[in-house]
Amino acid sequence: MKDHCQALVLEILTSAVTPAFASGRTLWVMDENPAIDGLLKLNGTKFIDVVSNRYDTSEQMAKLGINTFLSDFDFSALGFYERIIYRISKEKMLTHHVINEALRHLAPEGQLFVIGEKTDGIKSITKQAAELYESDTTARKFGNAYLAEFSRPSQALLDAKRLPTASYNELRLVRHPIMNFYSKPGVFGWEKVDKGSQLLVSCLPPVIQYMKGVDSILDLGCGWGHLMLATKDIPATVRVATDNNVAAIDAAAKNFAEAGMSVECVLDDCASQIRQRFDLILCNPPFHQGFQVNDTMTEKFLKSACRLSRRSTRAIFVVNQFIPLQKLSESCFKESRLLGAADGFNVFELRP
Ligand SMILES: C[S@@+](CC[C@H](N)C(=O)[O-])C[C@H]1O[C@@H](n2cnc3c(N)ncnc32)[C@H](O)[C@@H]1O
Repeated sequence: MKDHCQALVLEILTSAVTPAFASGRTLWVMDENPAIDGLLKLNGTKFIDVVSNRYDTSEQMAKLGINTFLSDFDFSALGFYERIIYRISKEKMLTHHVINEALRHLAPEGQLFVIGEKTDGIKSITKQAAELYESDTTARKFGNAYLAEFSRPSQALLDAKRLPTASYNELRLVRHPIMNFYSKPGVFGWEKVDKGSQLLVSCLPPVIQYMKGVDSILDLGCGWGHLMLATKDIPATVRVATDNNVAAIDAAAKNFAEAGMSVECVLDDCASQIRQRFDLILCNPPFHQGFQVNDTMTEKFLKSACRLSRRSTRAIFVVNQFIPLQKLSESCFKESRLLGAADGFNVFELRP
C-alpha cells in the first residue's frame, strides 16, 4: 500500500533540491519513518541536513553524502532553514518538542512542513500548534496523508510560547508497580514495563540454571535496559547493551549506573560494530519499522544474534505470537524451543 506521508516528504524534498527552488538549506527531521529509497534518486542532497535520533538512519544518510546530526533531537547545533520537513512521531511529547524547536530554526521566510496521518493525531496537533503560535494553518489532505505548513511566528510569540513537552530532553524516574526506572519520551514504551519482556524475564531462571555458567550477556535492542537489569544477580564479567536510539542508550546507561551494574552501552545498528561472542543473548526485537509492521526487522535481529553466538550460546527472544519466529530463525539457528507463552507473546530459546 502506498505510504502517502513518505510520498509527500519526498515531493517536498525533491522540490527543495530542484535548482529553480534550491535557495537556502532544508532540514529533514527523521524519526523512525524514513523514505530512504526515494532519496537515492535525489540530486542536490548537499542542500539537505538531517537530524535524527537513530544510529542506522544517520549512517544511511551519511552514505548518501547528507550532512547528519545524530542526537536526541537536540537542535542547539543547528542553524536556520528555508524549509524544515517533519513526519510526526508516534510520541506526542516528541512531536511537540520538534515543532517548538523547528519553528525557532526557520529562516525569516522559512516554512515548516508537518506531515502525518489522521490516526497519528496530525489534525489535533496542527490545531494546537496553530492556536498557540497564532497561525491560520490547517491540515490539508493528500490521499491518506495530511500536510500542515507553518511560517516562522513573531519573536514575541517564540519567546513566550511552547507546546507542552513535559521537559522532553530529561530522563525522569518512572515509578512503576513492577519496578522503578529512568526513561523519557522517545524511548520504546518509555513509561511501561513491556509484557513481552516481562515474560522473557520470567522464563530466564531455568535457562540460567542448566547453562554451565554465564560469563557474558548481550541485551540486543535494550531500550531503557529492562532485560539486562533483570540479569543483575548473574555473576557475569562482560555485559553489553545496545540500541540504535540515542535516548534509549542514555536511559539504559542511567539505569545500569543506578543499579550498580557495569554495562558497556553501545549506540549501534543491530550490534553491527560488536565483534565478541556472548554466552547469553536477550532480545525483544522491534516488529515495527516506523509505522509499518514487517518481518525483516525480526530477521535482522536474528542474524545479528546468530553472528554473536558460539555453539554453547543461548539466545532468548520474545515476539508477538503472530510473528513466525521459529520459521524465521531456521536459516540462522539449528534449534528453537518454546519457553513460554502468555498475553499474546511467545518466548523462544534459540541454539546455533
Ligand atoms: C520492542 S523494543 C524492546 C526494548 C527493551 N529491550 C525492552 O525489553 O523494553 C525494541 C528495541 O529495539 C530498538 N531498535 C530498533 N531498531 C534497532 C536497530 N536497528 N538496532 C538496534 N536497536 C534497534 C528500539 O529502539 C527498541 O528499543
